Amino acid sequence: MHTSIKRYTTTERSNHWIVAIVFVLAALSGLALFHPAFYFLVHLFGGGPWTRILHPFIGVVMFVFFVVLAAGFWRLNRITPADRQWSKRMGDVMHNRDDNLPEPGKYNAGQKYLFWTMVVSIPLLLISGVVIWQPWFAPFLPVGLQRVAVVVHALAAWIILLGIIVHIYAVIWVKGTLRAMTRGTVSGAWAKHHHRAWYREMTGK
Ligand code: HEM
Repeated sequence: MHTSIKRYTTTERSNHWIVAIVFVLAALSGLALFHPAFYFLVHLFGGGPWTRILHPFIGVVMFVFFVVLAAGFWRLNRITPADRQWSKRMGDVMHNRDDNLPEPGKYNAGQKYLFWTMVVSIPLLLISGVVIWQPWFAPFLPVGLQRVAVVVHALAAWIILLGIIVHIYAVIWVKGTLRAMTRGTVSGAWAKHHHRAWYREMTGK
């Protein structure tokens, strides 16, 4: 029998995809402003000045929706001693030997660390972005602070960009994961293999 287990509500999925789409817009407009090699991307946003005007607003929209998303998943991403064990057994993780690993709950340690990477870098982007936001905030703040903020902004952006590449790669790598965020369900076999403690909790088996 092919079982199907509910993993996300429609609200959670809508929120996730809004964050994902807005993240892509923030990343493309940000890269356009970051280096001349990416400058051609300004055409997607109506030219240079519009890219510069829109980018901070896009960032604020992403932050707001991310806060709602993260608030819903916060509790499920707390790091446990079993997660520390799991992290030490990367060889077994990479070779798909899940039977040798502590049973993960709804999220495994890799997903949790990535979640906290997002939770740290997205507010850092917002705070450093506000500091350098012309003409609203930057003119009223010390130039030394703005210099630090520019570096923090670029570093946090690279961290989250790499993090999201890993996030998407993991979704493709672990077959059957994407449907959790498209249909809201996963197969019983997927849950049993990758998130056994959660599987037991959901099915009572
Ligand atoms: C095309 C891009 C993306 C795809 C295909 C994707 C796909 C997915 C999938 C399938 C899940 C469910 C994983 C599971 O339940 O085990 C998920 C979870 C999640 N995604 Fe994405 N995602 C994308 C972009 C993003 C972006 C840009 C963000 C945030 C900036 C994000 C944040 C999250 C969060 C917070 C979770 C819940 C994981 C947790 O709480 O640990 N995703 N994503």
